[in-house]
Formats: sequence, C-alpha cells, structure tokens
Amino acid sequence: MTVHVIYGSDSGRTKAAAGKIAAKLNGKVINISDATAADFENCDLLVLGSPTYGEGDLQPDWETGVDLIAEADLAGKKVALFGLGDQNTYPDSFVDAMGTLFDAVTEKGAEVVGFTDTKGYEFEGSTAVRDGQFVGLVLDQDNQAGKSEKRIASWTSQIL
Ligand SMILES: Cc1cc2nc3c(=O)[nH]c(=O)nc-3n(C[C@H](O)[C@H](O)[C@H](O)COP(=O)(O)O)c2cc1C
Repeated sequence: MTVHVIYGSDSGRTKAAAGKIAAKLNGKVINISDATAADFENCDLLVLGSPTYGEGDLQPDWETGVDLIAEADLAGKKVALFGLGDQNTYPDSFVDAMGTLFDAVTEKGAEVVGFTDTKGYEFEGSTAVRDGQFVGLVLDQDNQAGKSEKRIASWTSQIL
C-alpha cells in the first residue's frame, strides 16, 4: 500500500507529527510547498495534515496547496486527516483547518477515514467536528503533548 503524508507547518510541530505518522504507516512525507497534484493521486492512502492559524485558517502553505486538491482526481480516494491546534488559546476555532481540508477533499469525491472521538479535549467550537466526531486525528502539542504518541498509535492502527 502506497501512503503519502502531505503536511504544512510553520513552527515544526505538524512536520514532526507527519514524520511519526508516516513511520507508522510506512509512508512518504511530502511538504505541501513541494507537492504536486500527482502526489495527491499516486497513492492508495492519502494523509493530509495542517495546523490552524489566524482564527481558524489553514497553515499559509496550505492556502495555495488546496488548489492542488481542486486539481487532483480524488474520486473514491481514501483520505485520512490530521490537525494540530491549541484548544486553550483558540477554543472557538480549534483545529478548524482540518474541517477546511475535509470539505476540500469530500467535494472532490474522496472517502475520509479515521474519524475520532472528541472526548479528552476541551473547546467551544470546531469546524473539524461533524456528526459529533472529529473528522481526523487531533493533536494539541501546546497543551496535551504527552497524549500525542498514544493518539498517533491508536489512530494509525485504526486507519490500517
Ligand atoms: C498566530 C497563531 C494563531 C493560531 N490560531 C489557531 C486557531 O485558530 N485554532 C487552533 O486550534 N490553533 C491555533 N494556533 C495554534 C497552532 O495551530 C499550534 O500551535 C500548532 O501546533 C502549530 O503547528 P506548527 O508548529 O506545525 O506550525 C495558532 C497559533 C498561532 C501562533
């Protein structure tokens, strides 16, 4: 199974998480600023990750990177999402970027796998919650770094 893990990162946390996720899934890590539409297509499982910036925005490299999603043929493609955020400082837009990625890929006909429980997080609002679940893996390195290893391990085994 070919796995591509495409991420954007300002201060390195999402990059580090992408590396750990790719190691568990035996995947290739690709920075969104180097990615092409083919990188989204030429894999069996596509894993996309972004931190949230501004008030609920995508990481800056993803702002143009989403155009590649619009270009790519993702019909029927299995996609797993992960998002980094800070629930204490940004409780009203917690990991919203993951919700934005969810909308972009589902619009293209992708099948999103790897939804997770919101239990264990404290926040007010997030566009990454649909039908009561997060649309992917949520990591909060600012406040819950100690929980991330376990969250990555259980999520990657869930999607495998
Ligand atoms: C200016 C700024 C705005 C942020 N806005 C949000 C936000 O709206 N929602 C959220 O969940 N996290 C927000 N964060 C937290 C980051 O997403 C979090 O620190 C993340 O781990 C950074 O990932 P990176 O190191 O890969 O860039 C913000 C951080 C900064 C510095």
